[in-house]
Amino acid sequence: DLYNRGILERIPPPMTTDPNRLRAQAKRVMRPEAFDYVAGGAGEGATMDANRLAFRQWKIVPRVMKPASPRNLKVELFGEQYDTPILCAPAGAQEVYHADKEVGTARACAELNVPFIMSTASTSTIQEVADASGSGGPRWFQLYWPADDEITASLLQTAWDAGFRVLVVTLDTARMAWRPHDLDRTFLPFALGQGNIVGYRDPVFRRKFAAWSDGDTPEESPMLAARYWLSEIFSGNNRSWEELSLLKRLWPGPVVVKGIQHPEDARLAARHGADGIIVSNHGGRQVDGAIGSLEMLPDVVAAVEGQNIPVLFDSGVRTGADIFKALSLGARAVLVSRPILYGLGIAGRDGVKHILASLLADLDGTMLLAGVQNVKDLGTGNLKKVAYGG
Ligand code: FNR
Repeated sequence: DLYNRGILERIPPPMTTDPNRLRAQAKRVMRPEAFDYVAGGAGEGATMDANRLAFRQWKIVPRVMKPASPRNLKVELFGEQYDTPILCAPAGAQEVYHADKEVGTARACAELNVPFIMSTASTSTIQEVADASGSGGPRWFQLYWPADDEITASLLQTAWDAGFRVLVVTLDTARMAWRPHDLDRTFLPFALGQGNIVGYRDPVFRRKFAAWSDGDTPEESPMLAARYWLSEIFSGNNRSWEELSLLKRLWPGPVVVKGIQHPEDARLAARHGADGIIVSNHGGRQVDGAIGSLEMLPDVVAAVEGQNIPVLFDSGVRTGADIFKALSLGARAVLVSRPILYGLGIAGRDGVKHILASLLADLDGTMLLAGVQNVKDLGTGNLKKVAYGG
């Protein structure tokens, strides 16, 4: 048991698991541009704050004298069994946080059988991540949906051939939001301008970029590639629900939509064939002033009830209690994001594993102490909404 070993054997942990101190520790060791990119949000950070406040409004009401051992944390998603109800959220540019980059994160996830969701903006290649995950590592692919259908098809083909089985398409990022930190630090050119994100490696992208730039490769002209990606391929790409069928045609596995907040969008996603929904506001990095993500979870769950569409959740998950709350409000599983990136920034692959294992141990302990044996038994009866924060 991780906690008892920690306190009895005095094994010094590689990092704290207190979410606020973890952030501070990461700030001390990460490059300022990289730390600000991870920690920062859109606008004044109001939605990032709301994400945490939304968790604080729900309180766990523990039960006693209920048999709660051994715990069962297993969940089923799209016909696959997973040991635990957490996934690693997609996050790009990991090379900038630590030399272990996405392959390190993916390997830590594989060791714990946690699905790794690989971002289109990753700095490791699709094949490197597939090799790092090995045969047992569940891997999902996240798409920033290009405006160009040929590039989309090519990226998806590469990911499917490399063993990625679930597609996550992020819908809340038709363009990057106004993120003052990144403007202040000029981070984006710094990260995307290395010429090596997954999107740039795609052969169709390379051919089109060469035509657009008079024969350049992204390696020769990384800033130009970043410009082409952001302005031609990615930015302002407003799709309609009808176009989801294109992805359904191109991807043989389940297609999950990420970035849903409004229950009407959840209904539309279901009607247009989405196999799963991720309630997320991108960690407060897109619409600043948007509602805290957890606030919308019960409404989205209600909107697709009875349709066999699992609802996943992210934005603000920091502790075992947070996972307990999100599952109680109807999420099948949660995506963990910034804590993993801080773990990576501090100690690479080992840091990611430490963060994931600690979160799971924390969830396990919370369930025991609240009298819940199986994550399937979590429900609104385990919570009460209160009017005070704290
Ligand atoms: C992200 N996120 C993200 N999402 C996505 O679909 N594709 C991506 O490439 C990225 N990249 C990314 C980079 C960084 C540095 C962060 C912090 C986030 C969003 C991510 O998947 C998730 O939705 C949020 O991070 C959840 O919020 P919290 O829990 O981290 O606050």
